[in-house]
Amino acid sequence: MPSFSGKAPGKIILFGEHAVVYDQPAIAIPVSEVNANAVVSAAPLRPEGEVWIEAPDIHLNQVLADLPVDHAFQTLFGALTKRMKAPRLPAMHITIHSTIPIAAGMGSGAAISVAVIRAVCAFMNFQISDTELNEIAFQVEKSYHGTPSGIDNTVVTFEKPIFFTRGAPFEPLDIGSELCFIIGDSGAPSRTIDVVSDVRRRWSAQPEIYELYFQSIGILTRKAREQMKVGNSLKLGGLMNENHALLQKINVSSPELDFLVDAALGAGALGAKLSGAGWGGNMIALINRRDAEKICSALTRSGANRTIITELKPSYGGMIE
Ligand code: PMV
Repeated sequence: MPSFSGKAPGKIILFGEHAVVYDQPAIAIPVSEVNANAVVSAAPLRPEGEVWIEAPDIHLNQVLADLPVDHAFQTLFGALTKRMKAPRLPAMHITIHSTIPIAAGMGSGAAISVAVIRAVCAFMNFQISDTELNEIAFQVEKSYHGTPSGIDNTVVTFEKPIFFTRGAPFEPLDIGSELCFIIGDSGAPSRTIDVVSDVRRRWSAQPEIYELYFQSIGILTRKAREQMKVGNSLKLGGLMNENHALLQKINVSSPELDFLVDAALGAGALGAKLSGAGWGGNMIALINRRDAEKICSALTRSGANRTIITELKPSYGGMIE
């Protein structure tokens, strides 16, 4: 029986998390060292319309119709069948595997959505553009994040470094010279929706101060775009440190994340910051490739339960599809 697969990478935010929810720009890159994979095959012995989803990494093994109506997969299939104008799907079995850490700011939810949409479209022989796919993945993100900026689904769908502003077409970034990063997982799970809601509460209580923080992050993000273009890693690292200091001010860091950031800097990183929603999840450090081993060990000794090295090669961002 033929099977059809879809794949999507993880992602990490380099600059601008949280501020991006308040209309400032952010920069995110795909992390192809981890990914989500979905495989769809026909289930001819099952009743028409039955979609069986088997996703051991998220402890799911059941029929779509039995999931709660507000479940992410219900939103996904609702939007996808509407787009396909196919109210009834043939019976199918979907197997999903992901190596992306869950609830850790690496876009695992968005990557699973994109992988599933790609696999189901391949199975149905339905052509879908990345722009349409991204729109469906965004609807799914909204169903479980509340007010997402859309950065996760966008970077995961297009799999390129992006300069992103909410509600606007994204800009693919130019990368002037090779950049090497280490991602360190604090091991503490953190739900984006909780952190984003807390920031919103604080912003409502002190709007002037928080607007100033967000604007300052926006300025750093724009400077970072220029430094990535010219390939100045020293300056880029400094901007990451400044962004981390502002994230501390808006209360989204944690002692574990600060400890990892300090450990990376102490071992020679050019810059380091938390990444994603915060309170837990990952931090990211910009490094010289030759220092990778030393910095990975420092992070592990300081409590990181996983480290991932990822690189950006020099490239011209080019046009959006
Ligand atoms: O999904 P995470 O943890 O990478 O967080 C997303 C980044 C935020 O700016 C905090 C939220 C958003 O929707 O952009």
